[in-house]
Amino acid sequence: MENLITKINSLKDAAILLLAEVKTLPELEAWQIRYLGRKGDLTALLRGVKDLSEAERPLLGQVGNVAKQALLEAYNAKQDQLNAGQNISGEAFDVTLPGTRPAIGHLHPFTLVTRQLEDLFSKMGFMVLDGPEVESEYYNFESLNVPADHPARDMQDTYYIKDKKNLVLRTQTSNQQVRAIQRFGAPLRVICPGRVFRCEATDASHDSTFYQLEGLVIGKDISVSNLIFTLKTMLRGIFKKDVNVRLRPGYFPFVEPGFEVDMTCLFCSGKGCSVCKRTGWVELVPAGLVHPEVLKAGGLDPKIWSGFAFGLGLSRLVMMKYGINDIRLLLESDLRFLQQF
Ligand code: DAH
Repeated sequence: MENLITKINSLKDAAILLLAEVKTLPELEAWQIRYLGRKGDLTALLRGVKDLSEAERPLLGQVGNVAKQALLEAYNAKQDQLNAGQNISGEAFDVTLPGTRPAIGHLHPFTLVTRQLEDLFSKMGFMVLDGPEVESEYYNFESLNVPADHPARDMQDTYYIKDKKNLVLRTQTSNQQVRAIQRFGAPLRVICPGRVFRCEATDASHDSTFYQLEGLVIGKDISVSNLIFTLKTMLRGIFKKDVNVRLRPGYFPFVEPGFEVDMTCLFCSGKGCSVCKRTGWVELVPAGLVHPEVLKAGGLDPKIWSGFAFGLGLSRLVMMKYGINDIRLLLESDLRFLQQF
């Protein structure tokens, strides 16, 4: 009797030790048959009960049941553990292996650069404004000192909205200038990033949809030096170093005087290379002092208020920043391109 109890208990201990070694479901099945099955070791031992006296049997039955219960519980726990570590084909895998990172997508380079510029300009006290892409001819042109018969309309090949008189896809973020003045009055500091559209043949540097960022500052005694300071601060923010600018005369009906602002070519540091066509300068942004007619359209007195404006080509800036040589890549949604950012 004593002997049998010892045997049952050591069988149980041995079985549980062996269970720790079990790594797969088939192994677990074999273990189950060996220790818990009808022809298994425990059953065999328990058959010894019949040779015992009536008085001894209940105690042995109890010991047997406790052992069986312990083995069953261990078996169930092991089964759960193995099932949790199974893939569909039934193979076990190492649950401690590091996981695969889920793909969370990428920010588009436009978004990256726009956010950077919004940060920079916000720190200089600018508001960030959004505005309509389907725009009235008034805000896109007339309010900017470009009447219907003005030759400057031909500079921008405009998409008109079918059957909607006087509505266009905005050709420039300058459409926001008079809207902003009317809404917020003066003094004023705003930037307006956004999409613009032109009915143009596309090539590596032209697309019919592209991005601009308009800047507008209205105040008292605003001069060209305010414009230069602002643009240089912006360039330092983007390129993390001081970048020189120069101004050439440029014509835009809504500024007077108007300029083309160039920056030092960053590919050759101004020495001259193929990117800057050996001049050491690349075009950065058209700009100027706000034309009195624009101030008037916004309801401001040009004798009191003055301002500067600029129209940054965001697409070009993104291309320069990331060394992208074809503007069309930006809107093609090719993941091989987008995943690089
Ligand atoms: N809106 C002009 C364009 O798209 C660019 C521009 C020029 C904007 C001069 C300005 C500016 O604000 O002052 O061609």
